[in-house]
Amino acid sequence: MESMKTSIAGMPLQHPIFNASGPKCTTFEELKALGESAASVILHKSCTLEPRQGNPEPRYVDLELGSINSMGLPNLGYAEYLKMMPRLKTFGKPVISSVSGLYLSDNITIVRELNETLVDAIELNLSCPNLVGKPQVGYDMEQSDAVLEAIMAISKKPLGVKLPPYFDFVHFEQMAAILNKRHVAFVTCVNSIGNALFVDPEKECTIIKPKGGFGGIGGDYIKPTALGNVRKFYELLRKDIGIVGCGGIKTGMDVFEHILCGASAVQVGTQLMKEGPSCFSRITNEFNSIMSRKATHPLATFKEN
Ligand SMILES: Cc1cc2nc3c(=O)[nH]c(=O)nc-3n(C[C@H](O)[C@H](O)[C@H](O)COP(=O)(O)O)c2cc1C
Repeated sequence: MESMKTSIAGMPLQHPIFNASGPKCTTFEELKALGESAASVILHKSCTLEPRQGNPEPRYVDLELGSINSMGLPNLGYAEYLKMMPRLKTFGKPVISSVSGLYLSDNITIVRELNETLVDAIELNLSCPNLVGKPQVGYDMEQSDAVLEAIMAISKKPLGVKLPPYFDFVHFEQMAAILNKRHVAFVTCVNSIGNALFVDPEKECTIIKPKGGFGGIGGDYIKPTALGNVRKFYELLRKDIGIVGCGGIKTGMDVFEHILCGASAVQVGTQLMKEGPSCFSRITNEFNSIMSRKATHPLATFKEN
């Protein structure tokens, strides 16, 4: 029987399944519910320097095969998450801070202050698709390189990077070369696929309001793209850089597929939004029963057709 135990950024985890930054992880009540759930890590909503209300509503819609959102980073501001840290640590599992400053100087301020807290690791979000007038840093290789250079120089915590989905091998190679130069602890693949459009044919309008209806999609729609990104970065990155798979996970079998492709841990976004934190015990049990039938770790058995 293969064990579910894993590690990411040097942190031992009982099992690989925890929440993606964004869904149901903004307030202390939501984070407490994650602490009490079967999730193996608590990851909080991407924080900015100042608190943000985010974009106008409707800005999130559940869809049959996933979700669309354009939240615009509504969060309490980093100082609130700093204050919560001792209480979040009482749940006895690692805590990761997602950081998404609007400017490099904001990220520097936030990371400097996180250095002095109990947080176990940082996930630097280079891939928010829903900020009006702000392109995703992760699609600008020069800017990504400069941001990582500056943040790695000051971070005393293990640093992970949340990446957007890439669609061309040359972009995977460029980003991998940037990451391989540095002591990045992990990458999380992927953020929402940005700028999708869902329309209501009855009402003849877009289903969300911000940005002309354009939003990031998650869930079943993006699992193949997420698996492609996990696999490609597994092939290209140094083996000491962990890969956290994110995209389309709603069952234990989805977790297994991400791990087969190269993930050491996985995050659940849309399904947490739909089902609430009890999804973690269900998915973990499903994954456990798959692993109990396996004699070897899935990574050792992956093969091309
Ligand atoms: C409502 C909502 C809010 C999100 N907010 C963030 C965020 O603040 N930071 C971030 O890195 N990703 C954010 N995401 C993206 C998710 O973390 C995840 O990468 C994406 O939804 C794909 O996973 P899924 O298919 O399980 O939903 C958000 C997603 C949703 C649905």
